[in-house]
Amino acid sequence: MSELYSNDIAFETKQQMAEHLQGKALELDDTEKNYNKHFYIESYGCQMNFSDSEIVASILNGAGFGHTKDFTQADLVLINTCSIREKAEQTVRKRLQLFNGAKKTRPNMMVGVLGCMAERLKKKFLEEEKMVDLVVGPDAYRDLPKLVAEAEGGQKAVNVFLSKEETYADINPIRLNSNGITAFISIMRGCDNMCSFCVVPFTRGRERSRSPETIVAEAQELANKGYKEVTLLGQNVDSYKWSTEASEEVVTFANLLELVAQVSPDLRVRFSTSHPKDITDDVLHTMAKYENICNYIHLPLQSGNSRILEKMNRTYDREWYMQKVDRIREIIPDCGISSDMIAGFCSETEEEHQDTLSMMDYVKYDMSYMFFYSERPGTLAARKYEDDVPMETKKRRLQEIIDLQQKHSAESNQHDIGKTFKVLVEKVSKKSDQELAGRNSRNKMIVFPRESYKIGQYVHVKVHDATSATLIGKAVRPA
Ligand code: SAH
Ligand code: SF4
Ligand code: F3S
Repeated sequence: MSELYSNDIAFETKQQMAEHLQGKALELDDTEKNYNKHFYIESYGCQMNFSDSEIVASILNGAGFGHTKDFTQADLVLINTCSIREKAEQTVRKRLQLFNGAKKTRPNMMVGVLGCMAERLKKKFLEEEKMVDLVVGPDAYRDLPKLVAEAEGGQKAVNVFLSKEETYADINPIRLNSNGITAFISIMRGCDNMCSFCVVPFTRGRERSRSPETIVAEAQELANKGYKEVTLLGQNVDSYKWSTEASEEVVTFANLLELVAQVSPDLRVRFSTSHPKDITDDVLHTMAKYENICNYIHLPLQSGNSRILEKMNRTYDREWYMQKVDRIREIIPDCGISSDMIAGFCSETEEEHQDTLSMMDYVKYDMSYMFFYSERPGTLAARKYEDDVPMETKKRRLQEIIDLQQKHSAESNQHDIGKTFKVLVEKVSKKSDQELAGRNSRNKMIVFPRESYKIGQYVHVKVHDATSATLIGKAVRPA
């Protein structure tokens, strides 16, 4: 049994496994009991991957597999992987070791790797390390039933073909771990941008958009089921584009946003991710026009220095980015802006790093996702540039970025004390079941006493306190 526990596994998992091995099979609370076979799926990486897992769930349901949240009860254990940084890949390896250990006591259990590591590591997983039974890339999920059958028959099953057309437009996702209030809708796949640090164009292939009709239908169906918020997902939503041969008309992202906003005034619309080079005034005006399109833009900067931005192949410079931010503030005065930052990209000097900090001071982001540069095999940067900033320096610069962001987040939240916001109640607060939590239009989390308010309701909440991560308030009236 020891090999099961030799890795860095969360306590709950060990506990679950121990109980299972002692014959105390866990209650299948969240398991779809009317199926004979069950799949378990774990997702890593971006929202896109989480959204894909819901497509996978739908395809597997169709093939007779019910979902379970307990991998020790599963016949098919899947891990939807991310390749964006080295650490993401290491986490996946640890989980695979755990699942492989579990196979020793359940020999018929199959383990599969999905998502962004599939293409890169298929050979290693299947042949060299023999860690998995199937490997399926992001565009091959329709093939899963066939691949699972092959794996059941003892073959190693693999399909990592990247398509130019696949959007899974007709597949109705099964919402996993859903709160029944907020959902993702994937509007496009892949990416054509070729930022030099980024592995996504290689793992997910060419950019393609999904038809507006199927997107609007999915939003409508969610609204009918009582969902109150949808997030439109793509690596670069502003380059969304749909046209048919039959009609000259092109549907842009601004058009799509409007169509989704019109589904219901009660259905909030968010989107991610925007690219500074592509976000248009049309998008900003559409946001300003509809109350239910949230005033929040995730606009990754990556670096505040023009030389580094050029090396990153981001196709904008410092001035362009500043002008975009000015434009956002002009058209939507109360718009939350967040960012992604990379510290210590190839050849970044101390002064160039300072440019990132000064840009942060200029924009004053509400929130940022912050990373140090991690070289990814096969990317433009890995081929062309030396990863020459010492790890120590990368970590120190990253810490400076994190500290500054924390200061800005705290200031921004302090600034909100005394204000009243319309909040969509999403869940019971983690800290106390007497408190509810939800976000305002700017994507800030607000916690407030439960009283008789309910999940899924819009409530006006007056803020009286704040930490750097959360606003704390009291409901003043239903919205
Ligand atoms: N499509 C989105 C980002 C997707 S990846 C966009 O263009 O903004 C999410 C974030 O991971 C990126 O914005 C970047 O900040 C970070 N990232 C990507 N590759 C990385 C790498 N090699 N090292 C460190 N961070 C990276
Ligand atoms: Fe990667 Fe750039 Fe595409 Fe984002 S826009 S997914 S960072 S290549
Ligand atoms: Fe990771 Fe793939 Fe998303 S590499 S960030 S899961 S697109």
